[in-house]
Amino acid sequence: MFTSHLIFAHSIWKKHVKPESYAIDATCGNGHDSLFLLQCGISHLYCLDIQKRALENTAKRLANFKNYSLHLGCHALFSMVKHPIDLIVYNLGYLPGGDKRLTTQTSTSLKSVENGLKLLNENGLMSITLYPGHLEGAREAKALLHYAFTLPKNQFISCHHRWLNRSHAPTVLFIQKIAYSLF
Ligand SMILES: C[S@@+](CC[C@H](N)C(=O)[O-])C[C@H]1O[C@@H](n2cnc3c(N)ncnc32)[C@H](O)[C@@H]1O
Repeated sequence: MFTSHLIFAHSIWKKHVKPESYAIDATCGNGHDSLFLLQCGISHLYCLDIQKRALENTAKRLANFKNYSLHLGCHALFSMVKHPIDLIVYNLGYLPGGDKRLTTQTSTSLKSVENGLKLLNENGLMSITLYPGHLEGAREAKALLHYAFTLPKNQFISCHHRWLNRSHAPTVLFIQKIAYSLF
């Protein structure tokens, strides 16, 4: 647990997926997370991004894999997804080394999370890496955390990982679809 937010998130993803899993990387960026997911040995990965450059970078990184599809456009809608999904991951914010204005936005991220939860299998997991260190990221984190607090407890379980003495550090929000409430 006491490692970077990404290594922490990856360790949870790896434990969660199975060879038959369908997954979505809703912000594929430079493809690092997509590569990790495919290396976990899943069945298919949908990779989404609004930037052509991001999809090109992802395609290069995934050159050794065939079981993925690239989708240019906003993740608010998942019209391309035809299977129930075991894992949806978001690494919000902007493309490292890219245009910071092309950052994820509170309204579309909320819409996407809402629609993504409908696609999850029973026990399906959503992982959202939040970046409160910049203005839109802080707004987005606040809105998504508020949304997670309001989810019905007999349908979802949610938890939030953050470093208490690093207030601007990235944090990770997990939401899992459940069949019954544990507590
Ligand atoms: C922090 S980067 C993702 C890093 C990536 N997961 C990786 O492993 O390299 C965030 C990405 O979200 C993308 N993005 C921004 N708004 C989006 C939207 N509405 N729908 C899909 N992707 C979006 C950006 O273009 C950027 O590539």
